[in-house]
Amino acid sequence: MKKRPIIIDTDPGIDDALAIAIALFSEELDVKLITTVAGNVSLENVTLNTLRLLNFFGKDVPVAKGAEKPLIVEFVDASNVHGKTGMEGYDFPEPKEELLLSEHAVNAMRRVIMESEEPITLVPIATLTNIALLFAMYPEVKSNIKEIVMMGGSAARGNKGVMSEFNIATDPEAAQMVFQSGVPIVMAGLDVGLKALVMPEDSEEIKQMGKVGDMAYHLFKKYRGGSFSTGLKMYDSCAIAYLLCPELYNVEETYVGVELRGTMTTGCTVVDLRGYLKREPNAKVCMDIDGKKFREWFKESIAKCI
Ligand code: RIB
Ligand code: CA
Repeated sequence: MKKRPIIIDTDPGIDDALAIAIALFSEELDVKLITTVAGNVSLENVTLNTLRLLNFFGKDVPVAKGAEKPLIVEFVDASNVHGKTGMEGYDFPEPKEELLLSEHAVNAMRRVIMESEEPITLVPIATLTNIALLFAMYPEVKSNIKEIVMMGGSAARGNKGVMSEFNIATDPEAAQMVFQSGVPIVMAGLDVGLKALVMPEDSEEIKQMGKVGDMAYHLFKKYRGGSFSTGLKMYDSCAIAYLLCPELYNVEETYVGVELRGTMTTGCTVVDLRGYLKREPNAKVCMDIDGKKFREWFKESIAKCI
């Protein structure tokens, strides 16, 4: 079966690590490039974490470093959730430095997209700074992008601000540029991320699933995106799940804008389900997920990471 070519833009990040694993070991996806962006922790740390993960997984995917801070706002990380290094809890091997390209992520993305015979799917599971820069510098790439399937945003409340989700709130201007780009978007936000839970009994099963399962279990013990006992939120795996198991979701096509001037709501994704703003739809928003099926899908996917 022909694999779907994708580029993952990421900020590992414990939940990123599992999403990347599932994508790399799936039979349906061809990960052509992984680009990094400052988000959960610094650009240096997310890049080192990515190179460590690829060494650990035994997968030689090229990596390119991107933006070290947002376009306009000050950079604020999420080390309180992922730990200082961004992937505390497991003793990873050394970073596989030879996978790191000298190209900037934006230039590497442009090259890979324009060289691809098949339209590329962009899978940003982090702040959208690199994607916004890509469209600003090389708008021609849009002709060979199938869609953007992102983890980010929320049709309801936030997890960084009252109404703003972390990936959007970390660089709201970049997010607005992406939502206005005209490229088809699938938004897997907190509406599904908060229900994409790994429960304690799942973690105990995952622990027995080879070295990737053991790694996941140890990272889960440190991950503060939820709690080990009441459910760990696999936010970024929601984007991969859309690619591999879209039937998990209820999706609504609508207009999504990003609030940039709200004194209390900057970074909010304004999901206009009832058309008050009278704007053309620009995104498919995952509004709900079958949480039970997600847990089964997630465990089946980790079991394939051998
Ligand atoms: O809000 C969740 C998102 O923020 C995830 O991508 C997580 O890794 C963090 O980057
Ligand atoms: Ca992430």
